[in-house]
Amino acid sequence: MATILVTGGAGFIGSHTCLVLLEADFEVVVIDNFCNSDRESIKRVEALSGKSITLYQADLSNTEAIRDVFIKHTIDAVIHFAGLKSVAESCHDPILYYANNLQSTLALLQEMTRAKVFNLIFSSSATIYDSLHPAPYQEKHPVIGKTPYGQTKLMIEQILSDLPQSDLNWNISILRYFNPAGAHPSGMIGESPKTTPSNLLPFISHVAAGKQASLRVFGNDYPTPDGTGIRDYIHVMDLAQGHLFALSEVLQQQGDFFEVYNLGSGKGYSVLEIIKAFEEANLISIPYTVVERRTGDVAISYADTSKIERRLGWQTHYTLPEICQDAWNWQKQNPSGF
Ligand code: NAD
Ligand code: WQD
Repeated sequence: MATILVTGGAGFIGSHTCLVLLEADFEVVVIDNFCNSDRESIKRVEALSGKSITLYQADLSNTEAIRDVFIKHTIDAVIHFAGLKSVAESCHDPILYYANNLQSTLALLQEMTRAKVFNLIFSSSATIYDSLHPAPYQEKHPVIGKTPYGQTKLMIEQILSDLPQSDLNWNISILRYFNPAGAHPSGMIGESPKTTPSNLLPFISHVAAGKQASLRVFGNDYPTPDGTGIRDYIHVMDLAQGHLFALSEVLQQQGDFFEVYNLGSGKGYSVLEIIKAFEEANLISIPYTVVERRTGDVAISYADTSKIERRLGWQTHYTLPEICQDAWNWQKQNPSGF
């Protein structure tokens, strides 16, 4: 069976994808520096799957460390999750974001080229869609780097789009995630940020657990039915499965392949709808207060998922109540994260 190198495999989306890969009988090699994760996540994935992962603790910008991995293993494809992902932090420390996300990607691409490994899947983000164009977003809609974090995603997409033109061996699939949420239904792996969560569902889980007194709803004067922001929440297991579909397509290519796919549920829910869904799914009350809009937020963002559904046959299976139940189940079982 093919061997897949997963960068950032100990993180939230990476760990769930490693599990799905192992369950599909791929060999999995992970490189992670644990700057936003814990090696315990890898142990839990191994326990859930009954299979082992070869783990390297290394910074991806360390070319010698990566080279060593490509020498030790015959890698068939790389799924590149490693990167810093906080929009707010990237605005406070842009150099950190440009340095980490770009240097690590360039080092990875150089070593892939050296090792003649040309199959790549990259984690991009819906944050790059230009909100001047109304949702639902299609892959061909205009993109723009609104924040340093978004710029890194856009720049990496641009770098990757140049590769098949320079060397016809490259097969590259870019996946633009909308709002990943939930956790594995076992409650054994989930999102475990090292700082206070800024994303909606992890924050609601902290309120439910009593770690935060109440949720601040950022604005109720948006042009939406209830005035709060609308987003596309996708269960992390559906997202992980999406990688399997993209990987299968990439592995069948003969070169000169470059494709972009949205990974979302295709449905938009407001902040108040998410609070209600969480309360009903878990029978817990979530106190909230409405505060000012958060800088940089858009009113409405959700995906047009027809391209990946049509071409690869992928579709979501988890419902919003399941996302809420699994997010809370993970929080309850792991009150302090990993
Ligand atoms: P995460 O922080 O949980 O996982 C990222 C992993 O990469 C972590 O384990 C971290 O330790 C590792 N890492 C970071 N920089 C590294 C480096 N230089 N060398 C080695 N390892 C490094 O984040 P996630 O939510 O799993 O996101 C994975 C990818 O998906 C990221 O690229 C992120 O930008 C992208 N993405 C995430 C979301 C989201 O909301 N979670 C949405 C869109 C896109
Ligand atoms: C969702 C909605 C908030 C927290 C971010 C990144 C994006 C991508 C996914 C990486 C918004 C509201 C939130 C809170 C609230 N990540 N909210 N109170 O901003 O859509 O996307 O994560 O690529 O790039 O920007 O997600 O979960 O932060 O917010 O009212 O305490 O919940 O205003 O409407 P966002 P989010």
